[in-house]
Amino acid sequence: MCLFVAKMKTMLKVINVVGARPNFMKVAPIVAAMKKRPTKFLPLVVHTGQHYDAAMSDSFFRDLELPEPDTHLGVGSGSHAAQTAAVMERFEPIVLQEKPDWVLVVGDVNSTIACALVCVKLGIKVAHVEAGLRSRDRTMPEEINRLLTDQIADLLFTPSPDADENLVAEGIPRERIRFVGNVMIDSLQKHLKKARALPTHEKLGLNGDYALLTLHRPSNVDMRESFEPILDALEAISSKLPIVFPVHPRTRKTIAELGLSERVESIKDLRMIEPLGYLDFLNLSSSARLVLTDSGGIQEETTALGIPCLTLRENTERPITVEMGTNVVVGTDATKIIAAANAALNGLGKKVLRQPPLWDGQTSERILDALESL
Ligand code: UD1
Repeated sequence: MCLFVAKMKTMLKVINVVGARPNFMKVAPIVAAMKKRPTKFLPLVVHTGQHYDAAMSDSFFRDLELPEPDTHLGVGSGSHAAQTAAVMERFEPIVLQEKPDWVLVVGDVNSTIACALVCVKLGIKVAHVEAGLRSRDRTMPEEINRLLTDQIADLLFTPSPDADENLVAEGIPRERIRFVGNVMIDSLQKHLKKARALPTHEKLGLNGDYALLTLHRPSNVDMRESFEPILDALEAISSKLPIVFPVHPRTRKTIAELGLSERVESIKDLRMIEPLGYLDFLNLSSSARLVLTDSGGIQEETTALGIPCLTLRENTERPITVEMGTNVVVGTDATKIIAAANAALNGLGKKVLRQPPLWDGQTSERILDALESL
């Protein structure tokens, strides 16, 4: 009995927070690694419910073998303030009840800053995975979430050396920073073989080359002025090869609200489909001729896969994907997007198979080693 109590005391109880789609593939390998060290870690999963559609959330738990959440906060959509506040209000009692040794937050979504803020005010230690990334564009809600989370978290796990430099430049002491690599690549390496074996192409009736598109940033899809030039570019590119477009719910909504439905539907080979699960998306991205995206994580996955990626934004918080990988930040000007797509399709695009340092599938193990050593 005494031994059991002593053992319990050396265990670390960790609440792992997930909220939105890009969180699931970062938390899954960490929780799996914790379960493989059962005498050291007691992992709990809290889902804030920021994303709630089956296609945006449930399917990722299945695909990534992520255990059902121990607690679901059911927050749902809302304005930034309403959503962030609702997560805080509902997360605080869980932390008070569970008294974890650590709370682990990932990425840059509203759930990330909300849960970090709850913990720091309660004196509960919080670690931020994917710390230090900066787009230097403060009109992006995610940039504010990144800056604030990194200022208040006790421990900052970074995916690339540029992130360490950003944190040091912001006055964060080096003792709080651990360069561990990119945890998304742990998920990618674990699931790539299974994803490639799926009949995704057959299901979608794809039997040749295609481009893959994702688009959901407010700066691209919330206004006609920014959305229309992108549609012009897509029209030109789709005359050369079909574009598969799994449509984010936010984008589907704004297409209708901006009166762009007819325009989008008139682009013959722009094939709009429902959002895909993790494995089906990986199946498509790993054999696309070209990926066009405004997502963060997809810039990283295409670099790991060696697939040419055009980022439809003016900046990136992930410069290593440009320096070492396949990513080109092309912006949202139609002429530039078309020129970059043509270059990629003519074999002039960046095809690099070099991996950034520590994108090796072992990042979650390094995170656990660091937590244990503290
Ligand atoms: C959020 C993240 C963004 C991330 C993206 C990935 C923030 C500030 N943004 O953006 O960084 O890249 O997730 O998907 O946290 N909706 C649904 N069903 C859902 C989720 C959302 O219909 O399951 C619709 C709702 O209309 C909602 C809108 O999408 O209002 C936006 O959702 P929200 O979570 O606020 O932000 P995202 O745009 O998804």
